[in-house]
Amino acid sequence: MAELRRPKGTRDFLPEEMERRRWLEGRFRDVAHLRGFREVSTPTFEHAELFTARSGPSIVESMYVFRDKSGRELALRPELTAPTMRLFVEGLLGAPKPLKLFYHGPCFRYEQPQKGRYREFWQFGAEILGARGAAGEVEAIELAHACLSSCGLRGFTLRIGHVGVLRRTLEAAGVYGDAQAPLMPLIDKRDTEGLRSALEAMGADARAVLDALSASGGREVLEKLPGSGLDEVLDGLEALGIRDYRVEPGIARGLDYYTGMVFEVDAPELGAEKQVCGGGSYALMELFGAEPVESVGFAIGFDRVLVALEAQGHSFPKKRLDYYIAHSGEGTRLEALRVLAALRAAGLSADIDIAGRSLSKALRHADAVGARRAVIIGEDELRKGSLAVKDLTTGEQREATLEELLRERPKSD
Ligand code: HAM
Repeated sequence: MAELRRPKGTRDFLPEEMERRRWLEGRFRDVAHLRGFREVSTPTFEHAELFTARSGPSIVESMYVFRDKSGRELALRPELTAPTMRLFVEGLLGAPKPLKLFYHGPCFRYEQPQKGRYREFWQFGAEILGARGAAGEVEAIELAHACLSSCGLRGFTLRIGHVGVLRRTLEAAGVYGDAQAPLMPLIDKRDTEGLRSALEAMGADARAVLDALSASGGREVLEKLPGSGLDEVLDGLEALGIRDYRVEPGIARGLDYYTGMVFEVDAPELGAEKQVCGGGSYALMELFGAEPVESVGFAIGFDRVLVALEAQGHSFPKKRLDYYIAHSGEGTRLEALRVLAALRAAGLSADIDIAGRSLSKALRHADAVGARRAVIIGEDELRKGSLAVKDLTTGEQREATLEELLRERPKSD
């Protein structure tokens, strides 16, 4: 029954994992809101042309493309920048700029699945439209950096480059226009030997290119990026407290729409798929026949951040049930439901035995589902008008009235 299993490269998320995912998403959202970004959401499928027109061959080759019953060519979105630009043109052209938008949603790429690489994966990203050059770039990089540090990810590396200068470097070595396209994936994959032979086959000055692109380091590397304007970006980042960057002229990015500053973030725990974030300044407006708007953004590989946090032994907050109600049967059922309703109305999480278990089995179940406390309602308790409350962490049991319970708040872990 292989067909009834989930498709290759997709995942189910069990409750514990969903709690981690929701927690991480919440962190990212809070960080974005604190900086004045507002959330948008676009459809999971779009006209295929939205992506084929400007995203570049590596994305197009990995796209899920299909025809609907009217013969339209559609694609599951492989990324969210082009859809966000389309959303801007269709719904936000008149909005005050700069616009600071963020999104979180599933993307689809037909790639060979491995750890950290899936066919369905989630991106959390942001796009800034209409900001001025370096100011917008600083804001985008700072948001990405703040998202990654605020969730507790340690040891990540922020690398900054400039594809405009990279293209000029290739021109200076004798490679112009479309001839640069096959070189970009080799640069992106850091395939030095592949790049050398491709450049030599073109009769280009391979040594000059490799020398310019292999640099990596602090501000001093800016001399390999003449005219990039990145010094202003670095000044801004430093003023915001971000000093852990590296300047790398050899960042090409896997998408074709970038025009200027580009950046990537790696997390060492991830091995081959170590890139947890990528972005930069780009031009996509001409795709829609609209006026050009300065645009900069990034997307974080949400799933990869989770894998890295797990590898770092991150302690994720756990959601626990405040109360589990165990009752002795028919005679106490309605009282148990009244207590349940009162606890829930007070904003406490509470669950009740609905499997007809005996008191002792219900208590074992309460333990198994990780509840903090059990409320035991037996004939005795009903007669006395009190409740027996058992702390499931310490095993202590005491008597309390419902009013007392409603006044107390179980401590979170
Ligand atoms: P990207 O580098 O193609 O950029 O993807 C962004 C991030 O998504 C990657 O750094 C990686 O963490 C994650 N990612 C990509 N493919 C997969 C996969 N198959 N499985 C798991 N994670 C993956 C973009 O998509 C651009 N739209 C980013 C951007 C926004 N540039 C400007 N604005």
